[in-house]
Amino acid sequence: MSADHEIENLLQETRHFAPEAEFVAQAIAKPELYEQAKADRLGFWAEQAKKLHWHKPFTQVLDWSNAPFAKWFHDGELNISYNCLDRHVLAGNGDRVAIHFEGEPGDSRAITYAELTDQVKRAANVLLDLGVREGDRVAIYMPMIPEAVVAMQAVARIGAVHSVVFGGFSADSLTTRIDDAQAKLVITTDGGYRKGRALALKPAVDEALSGGKCPSVQNVLVYRRTNQDVNWVEGRDLDWTEALAAASPEHEAKGFNAEHPLFILYTSGTTGKPKGILHTTGGYLTQTTYTHKNVFDLHPEKDVYWCTADVGWITGHSYVVYGPLSNGATQVIYEGTPETPDWGRWWSIVEKYKVSILYTAPTAIRSFMKLGSSIPKQHDLSSIRVLGSVGEPINPEAWMWYRDVIGSGKAPIVDTWWQTETGAIMISPLPGITTLKPGSAQHALPGIEIKILDEAGTELGLEHAGLLVITEPWPSMLRGIWGDPDRYKETYWSRFEGKYFAGDGAKFDEEGNIWLLGRVDDVMNVSGHRLSTAEIESALVSHPFVAEAAVVGAKDETTGQAVVAFVILRQSQLEAAGSDADVSKILRDHVAKEIGPIAKPRQIMVVAELPKTRSGKIMRRLLRDVAEDRPIGDVTTLTDTSVMDIISGKIAGGAND
Ligand code: PRX
Repeated sequence: MSADHEIENLLQETRHFAPEAEFVAQAIAKPELYEQAKADRLGFWAEQAKKLHWHKPFTQVLDWSNAPFAKWFHDGELNISYNCLDRHVLAGNGDRVAIHFEGEPGDSRAITYAELTDQVKRAANVLLDLGVREGDRVAIYMPMIPEAVVAMQAVARIGAVHSVVFGGFSADSLTTRIDDAQAKLVITTDGGYRKGRALALKPAVDEALSGGKCPSVQNVLVYRRTNQDVNWVEGRDLDWTEALAAASPEHEAKGFNAEHPLFILYTSGTTGKPKGILHTTGGYLTQTTYTHKNVFDLHPEKDVYWCTADVGWITGHSYVVYGPLSNGATQVIYEGTPETPDWGRWWSIVEKYKVSILYTAPTAIRSFMKLGSSIPKQHDLSSIRVLGSVGEPINPEAWMWYRDVIGSGKAPIVDTWWQTETGAIMISPLPGITTLKPGSAQHALPGIEIKILDEAGTELGLEHAGLLVITEPWPSMLRGIWGDPDRYKETYWSRFEGKYFAGDGAKFDEEGNIWLLGRVDDVMNVSGHRLSTAEIESALVSHPFVAEAAVVGAKDETTGQAVVAFVILRQSQLEAAGSDADVSKILRDHVAKEIGPIAKPRQIMVVAELPKTRSGKIMRRLLRDVAEDRPIGDVTTLTDTSVMDIISGKIAGGAND
């Protein structure tokens, strides 16, 4: 396992932090949770599901007879939007703030549960007027503003299926996703604010739909966030604000089957084509609600919760749009970047709204840590009582800084491991129970069964690094890959018979804590975002300059991993372009255009050859050694061992920007 040597250092970690008595006394999750789940796993999940409002109660918990296609609570009916909105208003909490919105330019809005419900009902009626029906797909391409939440909730409310595409993805990526899902409607904005500027979004939608590329799309609904000029296609484009104002505020939420599709979210796999991960309703809401409440110790009547993830990623789906609203939480949504107008922005937001639970990614924590403690220390962060981490391993040093500087030296940190596919948190400490160990995600949550296996499928004991598997189905598990059931079986269920293979390496330490060791496949994790080496390689070779490309994720101090590309150029094309062509910039920009700025390689290495096995497979492991400046590993299976000398010589000669 490539990450093996890293864990040696981590295992020197001996610090432990037991929960404080005061915290334990008020904690939502009690130790009995583990016992209950162990004694009767399905009964335990049924108990959690019953905390939701069911239009028609379920009598069956799990049907696994058609494994790996699970059905949870499948004879029950519920409406996810009713659970997130109407039931809180009916319980007398309509005046509670659901969303404190902070725009990047400094504008702010407080939206109560009653107001949010009104908006979602109107939006649901607009969708129905546009002919969107149960099961139809709606693409959402929006910045982090409350209307994105309204859009998702409204789509779900009428039983349609949303496919949110992160606003940082390019027009080409949007086309692929709209087309794969055959979306009928696109919901977008004129733009949004980022890094002090009004960025445009609508042009990417226009380009994505141009030339008849997405014939399934009938309408585009546009919320005006920045009021910049936009191109308008009469008959196709509609103004969100006008449409909602004209729509009826009455909409009765109807129950849908628990297995009714809820959303598709595309994520990178090991091939060039993103996978449309499909989630359904009842199991997903059960587990997001349960984990959000127990892992973050949410007391909805007094906590102010802030998850910094964008709705374009799974964390934004599960821990901004569904879990928190289902629990009736008050949450902060911030539109912009952490450095605008300066690096104190997040901490001024925490101070302003008295945020008590903060959930973010290690990349952000490391960026703040590099800038020093003096910036956060200018703000009153004493409201913070729970901290969360997600998306990538958090190194103990960043963990300690997070606790000491942001958590006033006492807030418990929950390091939560999960995936787009798992839908909700699977491994995490519980803050009123677990004695924390910096850097480890620690234990499977009650109701979840995790094992670590070797390549042959044998269970490993403590201290042995292996492959992480989930051995029992769980409520919020993906139900498949959109339009590709075979790929679903092949990717997740074929490596070990009857077990879900997560693609991560892991290890139990001597105390039984789980340490996540990174991906074991060709998937990179850059700033907690998943990128596929194959996808970036195919973007690179689509440029006329590039004959061949190999991409690796190299260790990066801030972003966890960074994209490093090795390319072989086509001399003839280069000569035609002229000697002053800045190849590195051209190719980096090309990747940004093809996929999105997040996929831009940190470095482009121009090489004469790539290391390959006899069967022609690129040996990424060796390239990673070079990119990380390590001695080159075993090269005996290479066709031409001199290639590595040439490549490492080239790189020693200097990396570009
Ligand atoms: O490698 C693991 C890493 O992120 C992958 C899932 O990526 P994605 O589907 O984009 O979802 C990210 C947000 C849930 C995993 O296979 N990962 C996620 N959380 C952690 C993690 N690695 C280590 N520790 C974590 N807490």
